[in-house]
Order: sequence, then structure tokens, then C-alpha cells
Amino acid sequence: MDHSKDVLEMIKDVREYLLSLKETGVDEIGIETVVTKELKNPACHPEFISGSPTLQGQEILKQVQNDRGMVQSDREDDENNPPIPPLEKRGKACPELVEGGGFERLQMLRDKIGDCQRCKLWSGRTSIVFGTGNPEARLLFVGEGPGREEDKQGIPFVGRAGELLTKMITAMGLSRDDVYIANVIKCRPPDNRNPADDEIAACKPFLQEQIGVIKPEVICALGTFAAHTLLDTTTRISDLRGSVHDKGDYKIVATFHPAYLLRNPNEKRRAWEDLQLVMKELGMDKNIL
Ligand code: URA
Repeated sequence: MDHSKDVLEMIKDVREYLLSLKETGVDEIGIETVVTKELKNPACHPEFISGSPTLQGQEILKQVQNDRGMVQSDREDDENNPPIPPLEKRGKACPELVEGGGFERLQMLRDKIGDCQRCKLWSGRTSIVFGTGNPEARLLFVGEGPGREEDKQGIPFVGRAGELLTKMITAMGLSRDDVYIANVIKCRPPDNRNPADDEIAACKPFLQEQIGVIKPEVICALGTFAAHTLLDTTTRISDLRGSVHDKGDYKIVATFHPAYLLRNPNEKRRAWEDLQLVMKELGMDKNIL
């Protein structure tokens, strides 16, 4: 059997994975040491985040092989530690084809929103930016509201901040199709100003309905407005981030907004810590480097 194509694909995946780590603030990966304990819990492994680390090339390859279903995970033989299905496996392969499934229910919700005029933002918008991704995702990202590019395309996080979010998702070993991405408000405020309280209040029920349909296990709140809306608080984002907030049906991890990270790249390291918390909540830390 010719595996040369697989190997090439794997090398491409490794490269992509390393580039995405770089984007999230990891500058360097050492190859001389393997520290299994820390690798299983990257959240308590600060050298990894600061970029002086302990990942070994072999381990990276193993992860990519695992992702591609090419090798059996070490953990599969461990009775006390049964394999966790990869995150993307929960969603139906073609959710849009499943009658009464998440896709259809989200479409019904979108229809209910209609040509919304529940707040003043309707007059300046081009599109209602409802949300995108896997309707049965275990992980939901919630941002603030559409910017210029999102308003133009009708898709959340497709501008510069969106590019960074996509890289953050990739660094977690996922793709945008594995998760769901939505915003607190669905219409762009003029001149990219902050959303007003009445605009958030008008839109919040639809976000809550999206959460009710998707039933994520973890919501990652991106930035102040998402964190405040979802956690019903006015505590500063820097105090809300760094921990897991249990809301009963789901957990919330708040982190900095990608647009803030573009302006403050030094904070990417802390954002990466938050994403690792998310991964831990989803059991991904056991499957990942
Ligand atoms: N910022 C957000 O909060 N949401 C988007 O969709 C784009 C930028």
C-alpha cells in the first residue's frame, strides 16, 4: 500500500498545526524533552505557552496521525481511561439532512427573526449575521457583534479578528466546522461602536434560543460584551477569564476578544491558557499533546 500521499498530507497538517500555534503566541517548540505529565495537562505547563518547551516532534506527529485515524491512540488500551470521541464526531455528518435536527431548528429560529426591526440597528445593516458552524457542536464561540466584513458577507468572524479566531480554533486542533460561532447582537452597530443595552436586550433571547438548540457543553465568550451578557455580570473580562463558570447546562470560559488580541498580542498567551481550559472541559487535553 502506498502511504506516500498520507505522509505528505501529514506533513502539511503538522506544518499547519505549528503555524497555528505560532499565531497563538507559541514561538518555539523544543524537541529534546518529553514531559508526559505536563503534556497531558498543558494548562499547568507554562513553558509550553511561553514557547520554551517540551513538545517532541514525535508527539506532534502522533497527534496528527491520531487525528487522521492512522494509528491507535495509546489510551485506547487503557480501561481506566476510555477513548473520548473526537470533538467533531458529535455532529451529524450532514446535519442539514436530518429532519427536526439542529440545522432545521436553527433555520426555524432564523425564520422567526425574519427581517428584524426589534431594535434600531436594522436601519444600518446589510445582513443579519445569525451564526455559522455545526448545529450540534460541543463548543460554541460567542462574539460581540458583526463588523463591516461580517455585515457584508452575513457570516460571523470573517474579518481580521475572524482570521485570528480561525487560527485559535485551528490551534485547538479543530476547524470552524466543528464548532458553532455566533454573536450577542446580530446586526452591525454603526461605525463599529459598542452595542447598546437595549440592542443587547432585544437580541439576547435569540442567542439564548441558539444555545437551547445547539446545547453546547462549553461556551467560549469572546470579549467583554459576550462575557457580560452570558454571565449576567459587569465584572471586568480580565477577572472573568482564567476560570470555568458553571451555568448548570453548560460551562462558560471567558477570554479576550480576538480584536483585542490583535491590538495586544502579548495577551495571546493568556487567551491560549483560556482555550486550554476549554479543551480540558471537553476532555480534549487527554487526546492532545
Ligand atoms: N467581532 C465580533 O464580535 N463578531 C464578529 O462576528 C466579528 C467581529
